[in-house]
Amino acid sequence: MRNPRAFETPLAIGAPHPVSEIPVKPSRMIHFLDFSNEKMVAKVPQVAPTVDILLGNLEDAVPVDRKEAARSGLLKVGREMDLGETALWTRVNALDSPWVLDDLTQVVSEIGEKLEVIMVPKVEGPWDIHYVDRLLAQLEAKAGLSRPILLHAILETSLGVTNLEAIAASSPRIQGMSFGPADLAASRRMKTTRVGGGHPGYRTIADPEQGSEGADRPSYQQDPWHYSIARMVDACTAVGALPFYGPYGDIRDTVGCETQFRAAFLLGCVGAWSLHPDQIAIAKRVFSPDPEEVAFAKRVIEAIPDGRGVHMIDGKMQDDATWKQCEVMVKLAQMLAEKDPELAELYGMHPSSASGARAGDEAA
Ligand code: GLV
Ligand code: MG
Repeated sequence: MRNPRAFETPLAIGAPHPVSEIPVKPSRMIHFLDFSNEKMVAKVPQVAPTVDILLGNLEDAVPVDRKEAARSGLLKVGREMDLGETALWTRVNALDSPWVLDDLTQVVSEIGEKLEVIMVPKVEGPWDIHYVDRLLAQLEAKAGLSRPILLHAILETSLGVTNLEAIAASSPRIQGMSFGPADLAASRRMKTTRVGGGHPGYRTIADPEQGSEGADRPSYQQDPWHYSIARMVDACTAVGALPFYGPYGDIRDTVGCETQFRAAFLLGCVGAWSLHPDQIAIAKRVFSPDPEEVAFAKRVIEAIPDGRGVHMIDGKMQDDATWKQCEVMVKLAQMLAEKDPELAELYGMHPSSASGARAGDEAA
């Protein structure tokens, strides 16, 4: 048993106090870059204003002989570049790898004040988070950091998915989660060679009509990630953390990517990984709510100022619960409108004019 009050106490003397709430900020895309490539480092000033989160990847996809260069590139970006409001994250190497100790030690001591979140890949249980939690506290204390670095767990094994709820509740640092669908597919022995997305073989088919057995039967592709994503959304939102869709590897299939991102958005995910500039625009489009939905949600909130009772709007029943749904939509729109003047225009919202937010509520 862990004393729940210990959640409020730093895990090392001199480390910053753990956060009691995960900050909710625009997080529509976590844009992955490999900073072992100097051209990518040079592009940071142009890319940063176009994304909500910029991530220096140190793990898979970075070749072994460029691991150190990727880390140095990230340290350079953290030390020398002004990213404005864009958050800087990293994905460190796996906890059993020869690089992770130096990854954690160097990023915390050299750019700890700049780095908001560390993604920990291949997390399998709360023990993995507890290890990083204590180590980070020690490093933060040594570096004299003023705020704790948060953790994003990537679930990439069936054991990690089995322990998803326990991982979500393992530390106040848990900012959110996503799946690594390629590693996860391998761990589960799923028979796919794709990185995320659907598969034409994973489908349902209608029963044959009696008397026309040879005729075509309607058949539809299904989403093999649906169960996992829905579980992750519950595990995260149950503890005030944020669920994300992971990578979509078929860069040319922009329609497939948009469809997967949208399904994840509707289920509750706040954003997705982007692996290519084309996916930045897709994530921005998908994870910013539809202006028509926002307009409807604003109407509901305006029509029911106290959020109580039964009302009919456009023939649709509205009550206390639908009011809360509308509030989720309007608050997200308001948060994004604060950042993006184009969206502010589309939503008819101007910075700090949230329609219908209850006093004392935070953007969520
Ligand atoms: C990403 O890390 C994946 O395994 O898909
Ligand atoms: Mg992976």
